[in-house]
Amino acid sequence: MSSGQESGAQMNGRPADGRTAGGGPQASGTAAPLVQVRDLVKHFRLPGGWLTGDQQVVHAVDGVSFDIAAGEVLGIVGESGSGKTTLGRLLLRLTEPTSGSVTFAGRDLLHLTGRELWRLRPSMQVVFQNPFASLSPRLTVRQALAEPLRAHRVTGRGEVRARALELLERVGLGAAHLDRYPHELSGGQAQRVAIARALALSPKLLILDEPTSALDVSVQAHVLAVLEDLRASAGLTYLFISHDLAVVRHISDRIGVMYLGKLVETGCGGEMFAEPLHPYTAALLGALPRPDFAQRRGLAVLEGAVPSPVHPPPGCRFHPRCPLAQEVCRTAEPALVEHRPGRWAACHLAGTGTGTGTGPGGASGPVARAQAPAGAQAKPAAAGSKDGPAAAGPVDSPAVAGHVEKA
Ligand SMILES: Nc1ncnc2c1ncn2[C@@H]1O[C@H](COP(=O)(O)OP(=O)(O)OP(=O)(O)O)[C@@H](O)[C@H]1O
Ligand code: SF4
Ligand SMILES: [Mg+2]
Repeated sequence: MSSGQESGAQMNGRPADGRTAGGGPQASGTAAPLVQVRDLVKHFRLPGGWLTGDQQVVHAVDGVSFDIAAGEVLGIVGESGSGKTTLGRLLLRLTEPTSGSVTFAGRDLLHLTGRELWRLRPSMQVVFQNPFASLSPRLTVRQALAEPLRAHRVTGRGEVRARALELLERVGLGAAHLDRYPHELSGGQAQRVAIARALALSPKLLILDEPTSALDVSVQAHVLAVLEDLRASAGLTYLFISHDLAVVRHISDRIGVMYLGKLVETGCGGEMFAEPLHPYTAALLGALPRPDFAQRRGLAVLEGAVPSPVHPPPGCRFHPRCPLAQEVCRTAEPALVEHRPGRWAACHLAGTGTGTGTGPGGASGPVARAQAPAGAQAKPAAAGSKDGPAAAGPVDSPAVAGHVEKA
């Protein structure tokens, strides 16, 4: 944890038993975490500036800590440029971190030798947003699936075909697709082939980076259903990255909200939707394209552009856009603190009764009062369930998923 976060923690009036994220927001359930991320940092140095001494550094991921339990789905949501993809790549060590640690199945990923990492690679796979970019246009589906199978020592022609077919069937495709090239597939079919390819090495962890964002909404629902089935049948663990809050809510056990390289809130989606603790989460919910949704909860609408990650604002990075910002927010960085079991937020006002969340602030607090139309009543929604009242209705359906506008 950065010193800024420590000093923020002391200033945010957290409950005496409030835990800071030195240990990281913990996984749901009692299982030992499959993934433990601690104080992960990635600063990209931009080219140029050597001679003038003003080399610019992008603070893409800046001190992020969390756990993911085996079999859990952790959703990561945030605006474009908030660091979601970089975080996913750091977990797989496709990008080398500046500092911090990642433990996967008890192994310190960042200190493995190349050979050790190569051996562990099959356990951690990634599915990207654009399946046509990740599948070679020159390979048929059968050939694309055969590549990882060969690395897994499945080499006989008949065996490769049988295993490829089995993988295709797991994602709802069949023999008719085996000899097609990517351009002969629809977007949804191609993404399912990409998922099948990721499954070929029997991974434990799948990093899904915007896996449905390039698909039509009707196809999105199908791919999400495939992912949900696979998770249950193969006991997979997902880090599900999306700018689409409703999709993330639909599939995740827990959600982490990122803003300018930081995790600002984590918790179960049902509770978060019913009662966001961080004004940024509240604003994201306000941006869901359901006029009555924002109105019903009286949530602030997100305004202004995301500041530059080269020069992130001091103190709370959200302060230039936050309707609740106070003097302390401009100077002291708030720590990510557990305000209630499983509910973590990095805001000086969370849990004090003057911000979002419980207490007099709550859903009818200053954010709400500043934005809600006169007479609009914020209704409390049941918390604690992914399928609680906040989940009911079209907003929970991927087919009408709300999303954070990409910059
Ligand atoms: N290789 C790189 N070199 C320099 N800057 C980078 C590099 N990769 C990412 N960045 C910067 O890091 C920040 C985070 O990028 P990242 O791709 O992780 O965001 P994201 O949340 O995935 O955004 P999106 O929703 O648009 O995919 C951005 O400002 C981006 O420009
Ligand atoms: S009130 Fe707003 S600016 Fe202040 S710490 Fe919370 S989110 Fe940041
Ligand atoms: Mg991205």
